[in-house]
Amino acid sequence: MARGAALSEMKILIVVGARPNFMKTAPLIRAIQERNASGKSPHVRHLLVHTGQHYGELMSDRFFEDLQLPKPDIHLGVGSATHGVQTAAILRAFEETLTREWPDVVVVVGDVNSTVACALATAKLPARPDRPRPLIAHVEAGLRSFDREMPEEINRIVTDHLADLLFVTEKSGLANLRKEGVPAKKVFFVGNTMIDSLLASQGQADKSQVLEELGLRAKSTSNGNHDTVRPYALLTLHRPSNVDQADAFESVLKGLSDHARKFPIVFPVHPRTRKKIGELGLEKYFHRDASKNGRGIILTDPLGYLDFLCLMKNASLVLTDSGGIQEETTCLGVPCVTIRENTERPVTVKGGTNTLAGTTAGGIRQAIARQASGKRRGRIPEKWDGKAAQRIVPILIAEVQKSAARAKS
Ligand code: UD1
Repeated sequence: MARGAALSEMKILIVVGARPNFMKTAPLIRAIQERNASGKSPHVRHLLVHTGQHYGELMSDRFFEDLQLPKPDIHLGVGSATHGVQTAAILRAFEETLTREWPDVVVVVGDVNSTVACALATAKLPARPDRPRPLIAHVEAGLRSFDREMPEEINRIVTDHLADLLFVTEKSGLANLRKEGVPAKKVFFVGNTMIDSLLASQGQADKSQVLEELGLRAKSTSNGNHDTVRPYALLTLHRPSNVDQADAFESVLKGLSDHARKFPIVFPVHPRTRKKIGELGLEKYFHRDASKNGRGIILTDPLGYLDFLCLMKNASLVLTDSGGIQEETTCLGVPCVTIRENTERPVTVKGGTNTLAGTTAGGIRQAIARQASGKRRGRIPEKWDGKAAQRIVPILIAEVQKSAARAKS
């Protein structure tokens, strides 16, 4: 409906593209559905758009099942390509979707290419005489690594400066946006929807059989003994800076080697990393079978959300170059070593369970030793309480209503 008329219904277009987007949007859709069920006006029509940046059973479909996400209403089918080509393909396809659907607000999450492409398409949409441009809402705004070599940093900065509504997960985000001159009235400190998903999914994750499948937990016995989980570490690596060049990748693997001699390190491999292991001839560093000798770096296919959450919860240590995993481990109280020079999520280091290792073999060894020397429980950051999406949805509605009133006057 036209935004100028009294709002009995509003339309939200929610964008997902890559794996970490799915857990950030599932709670928003649930919060909208709950609000609609309460019968309050306006009714919120939501359409889920999947750009297709990630695709297939392992990188996409399984997450829809695990998170009980509805099937996408619109699939852009863009797939993999260089950054320029991928971003351009999403921009082009999403502009067509926008022109056809003309929502009141477009919600983008995180910092992937789909996020910036869809924000840019929306920002450049020429307003129609009867319809103002849709608002752009960015969930997970304000995070900064201050490292412009990271494609995600470019995506964050551009998206934040295009957005009309910026939803912030941690206080560093408020300070960053203030310094960059983003008006305070656009910025809302709401907490973390990725943590909403984590808290809502823990019970389901506890039912996962992944520990048994990997030989890390003895199967239940009938005499009532508690199952024991063998100490293990969990590893993820996919950043181009860590896996694209042989030198960089090998120095990370050397940094892990002492730990791998003593414990199993479970490594669900991202497709880009899998490809690089082959291309760079690094297979000798890995095993494929966990039960064989119980140590070393054990490769598995990428895992679904619930299996991965189960592995994170039960790990003695998590080693990663991901963004979201730093937050999830802080929330779970599991020690985390981040294999990067910087983090855009400083709250996980200052108050949480995370430590920055850098990317040299020595730095990684020292960080692992630091984490092993004492149990850092850490604090749960402010507003990471499972209610972020419930805070966001009423703000979206109020802001669309304000915008409708402005268009009318
Ligand atoms: C993207 C995000 C990154 C995020 C990560 C999570 C950007 C710039 N990067 O990185 O921030 O942490 O997702 O996984 O958006 N591929 C497949 N199947 C897929 C997807 C990718 O095989 O479903 C392979 C392709 O060879 C592709 C490569 O992985 O070229 C990289 O994929 P891409 O989506 O470009 O970036 P990611 O490394 O996944």
